[in-house]
Amino acid sequence: MTAEDKARLAVLLDMAGGFLRDSHWRERETPVFEDDAAQSVAGAGGGDSLETIAAEVRECRACGLRALRILPVPGEGVQQPLALVIGEAPGSEEDERGKPFVGAAGHLLDRMLASVNLSRTTNCFITNTVKCRPPGNRDPLPEETAACAPFLARQMRILRPAYILCMGRIAAQTMLRTNEGIGRLRGTFFDYTPDYPLNHQPDDAAAPAIPLIATYHPSALLRDASLKRPAWEDLKKLLARLRT
Ligand code: URA
Repeated sequence: MTAEDKARLAVLLDMAGGFLRDSHWRERETPVFEDDAAQSVAGAGGGDSLETIAAEVRECRACGLRALRILPVPGEGVQQPLALVIGEAPGSEEDERGKPFVGAAGHLLDRMLASVNLSRTTNCFITNTVKCRPPGNRDPLPEETAACAPFLARQMRILRPAYILCMGRIAAQTMLRTNEGIGRLRGTFFDYTPDYPLNHQPDDAAAPAIPLIATYHPSALLRDASLKRPAWEDLKKLLARLRT
């Protein structure tokens, strides 16, 4: 049995055990780590894989960010995650390490996720709306988000997350295709209907909408501690759904 087979089997057994105990959000006894997560799951993405996407992100020149960044940050986590966590864009530490949310905001994000039994090593996949760092941490430009959108769409098609958690305004606005402020978008479940091409597999046409909830970005919580309480309320709503 290959390492990939073992990882997939561990995920399936774990999911089955979790459902039997009516607590499918619990942490996995056999964590699936980044190296395993980067492997493809045959069929899930119509032959596509997270590795292929990461390789294409490395070579991508679809927008001007390529010339300015150090490393691309495709994302990391587990296959078929309970939650796909979407941030805005890599910051300086992410740019240096090629991993999402590894700076101060990332440490807070990990604690926020842990508070609702989520983790990038056991049941989440973390990525951003754009995979390369915008200079000076400015907001990604619409054309940069648009150029990167196919990568996120392909990742979602492979990952098939049960839930989507958007961290902050940019992620929420991008996913919900709106200019509404985060204060109005946060804390409410939306049905996210994938708009990426569904023509790879006939059964994709029936792909169900994915429940999506947004909350404040951890960077915002670091700047304004009064946002911690509402963010916690949002995460509790997600936790309640995960428990049903
Ligand atoms: N902020 C984000 O939105 N994403 C990261 O990966 C890091 C910081």
